[in-house]
Amino acid sequence: MARPRVLLTRRWPQAVEQLLAERYEAVFNEADAPMGPDAMAQALRSFDAVCPTVSDDLGSEVLEAGAGAVKILGNYGVGVNHINLEACRRLGIVVTNTPDVLTDATAELAILLMLMVARRAGEGERHLRSGQWSGWRPTHMMGAQVTGKTLGLVGFGRIAQAAARKANHGLGMGILYHSRRRAPEAVEAQTGARFCPSLDELLAESDFVSLHCPGGAETRHLIDAGRLARMKPSAFLINTARGSVVDEAALAAALNSGVIAGAGLDVYEAEPRVELALMALENVVLLPHLGSGTTETRVAMGLRVAANLDAFFTGREPPDRVA
Ligand code: 8YV
Repeated sequence: MARPRVLLTRRWPQAVEQLLAERYEAVFNEADAPMGPDAMAQALRSFDAVCPTVSDDLGSEVLEAGAGAVKILGNYGVGVNHINLEACRRLGIVVTNTPDVLTDATAELAILLMLMVARRAGEGERHLRSGQWSGWRPTHMMGAQVTGKTLGLVGFGRIAQAAARKANHGLGMGILYHSRRRAPEAVEAQTGARFCPSLDELLAESDFVSLHCPGGAETRHLIDAGRLARMKPSAFLINTARGSVVDEAALAAALNSGVIAGAGLDVYEAEPRVELALMALENVVLLPHLGSGTTETRVAMGLRVAANLDAFFTGREPPDRVA
């Protein structure tokens, strides 16, 4: 029997590509550039499995092209907001993602952004590298201490819970969380987190607000000018979730006028484009979507996709099926 044809839309760590090549008729995107809608439509017509990433746009129109051809989308990543799941269900295309394996890496990045922006790490490095540092002095680049402060989490899934544990156990932070459902008591006890039914209250009480909700229409611009104004002027906003959750122009205005003290961002509304008004500000740390970017995690993500494909093509239920 012919081996299933599998396309990876971007280059993956070599060990995983090799493993997939042993099991499947695997094709890699040698150029490692995002595929446009025409190339994607063609791919959906030609492969049994397409394995996309956050840099691919799989809206209903493109998906229609794959109707009756592609069988499974093995997404490399946990967020699937770039895939129209409803269209996939309608067209009978199975979709899987990669939960768990990127939890710690992404939570680490949220902590990193929190520390970087509060302690002015990016600004300090730019200062030193540009030759402006004239030496130590008591009032130079004073930042805000993180230890013992209050962290407010918006969304309380795996990544938020891991961030809570690291912040609470490592930095002695008080933890608040807002989510649709209250977490079990055992999870609250383990993470030191207190449920906050009102988002506005969480925003008003937190020294750091970290976003961990999914992207998509439901959370678009959840953090807008009004919500930013509810935060303390001394507070910091951290986003490792999806750029769409924050109104980027409103955030730039709030950072510029002192409505909040700073922000740490890993994700943007129209990646890889970043709002120019943000680029000009010192009180924002801007990282290029590095959330899951450790070698360990990127390999584990690939293996997780492989496990889903293996299950699917041997007639078993894929473990991480989302549609
Ligand atoms: C991934 C992410 O690297 O998994 C996610 O949802 O945001 C990232 O950490 C990216 O999405 C890969 O597709």
